[in-house]
Amino acid sequence: MSRQNNYVYVFDTTLRDGEQSPGATLTSAEKLDVARGLARLGVDVIEAGFPASSPDDLEAVRRIAKTVGNEPRTTYPTPPAICGLARTNTSDIDKAWEAIKDAARPRIHTFIATSPIHMQHKLQLEPEEVLERATSMVSYAKTLTDDVEFSAEDAGRSDPEFLYRIVKAAIESGATTVNIPDTVGYTTPSEFGGLIRDIIDNTPGAEDVVISVHCHNDLGLASANTLAGLQNGARQIEVTMNGIGERAGNTSLEEVVMALRTRKASYNLETGIDTTQITRVSHMVSNFTGMYVQPNKAVVGANAFAHEAGIHQHGMLKHNETYEIMRPEMVGLTKSQLVLGKHSGRHALKDRLKELGFELSDEDLKAVMERFKELADKKKNITDADLEALMADEVYQP
Ligand code: KIV
Ligand code: ZN
Repeated sequence: MSRQNNYVYVFDTTLRDGEQSPGATLTSAEKLDVARGLARLGVDVIEAGFPASSPDDLEAVRRIAKTVGNEPRTTYPTPPAICGLARTNTSDIDKAWEAIKDAARPRIHTFIATSPIHMQHKLQLEPEEVLERATSMVSYAKTLTDDVEFSAEDAGRSDPEFLYRIVKAAIESGATTVNIPDTVGYTTPSEFGGLIRDIIDNTPGAEDVVISVHCHNDLGLASANTLAGLQNGARQIEVTMNGIGERAGNTSLEEVVMALRTRKASYNLETGIDTTQITRVSHMVSNFTGMYVQPNKAVVGANAFAHEAGIHQHGMLKHNETYEIMRPEMVGLTKSQLVLGKHSGRHALKDRLKELGFELSDEDLKAVMERFKELADKKKNITDADLEALMADEVYQP
């Protein structure tokens, strides 16, 4: 992959780190729909899962690799890269490869912790052993695919000197992307930006690979830290839709992408994201995971474009830029279209569901049609929200 130097690769990990949110488990069919939504959104890389974590996860990743991993994106002629996560051992890497190998652009993402607390208490390994594992396993992954990403887990609390050494070694072993995670969301924007700058300045070979940032939101700083990473030379962001993820979550895709777009003059960076798809994918992820988005959440919250106070409404009527820095249409927010009712047929339903991001087999469509008719008997107009709820509630439940 190589684009202009002001291009930011969007690596979406909703289906891996996002799915690690407590209670956010998705079925294989739901994962496939989310992956399709992400491809329509134009993400560059879909981290589809952690294949060694369970046979079901491996199967779900394989299904995504075979399908979405071979379909061009609407925004770009190539399919998204499909990525599988692996610890630094051959068994995990083999499983990741097994799951992604049918994708047109398969990526193996292998990681090991580099902070003193993780190396000593979790891995019980000396730094030299960690270094050796990282290099040997990046080399091993490289025998399977050209596209190898290495992550230094808990980089935010690691000794920078050790990071320079391990990043250099990973690059020499063949890593093409090196990811710097703030795994526990500990750093502040100036620290994290400085760390990225120091890694780039002190690591031979760093200029030949994509430096990636992966931030967690424990202190509510994930988006700010990610943007600081970009200002200091990172060119891949690891994000999730709605910011879901372990504990307080990951960096929100929609926040960083819309910050780059709205403040283009400040950042001078671009992504390949079709922002008009944001609301659709956000709803899908929220409905499938059952993780409702807080109303005041930036960009995708129900109130993100609502104006309550009289003085604000007055200003908006005069000129929308008085209180709005983004137009709702930019993120695909349109006034609900009341198009379907009890007289609507199968084709109308199928088309509307497709627009909302659901592609159904004939068998599933039949089942949805029945539920739709029942609902239409009770409710005159069926909204997009009704259809999304129906899909989440009925169709994919065992
Ligand atoms: O937060 C983290 O460190 C991770 C790694 C596996 C990249 O999710
Ligand atoms: Zn993470």
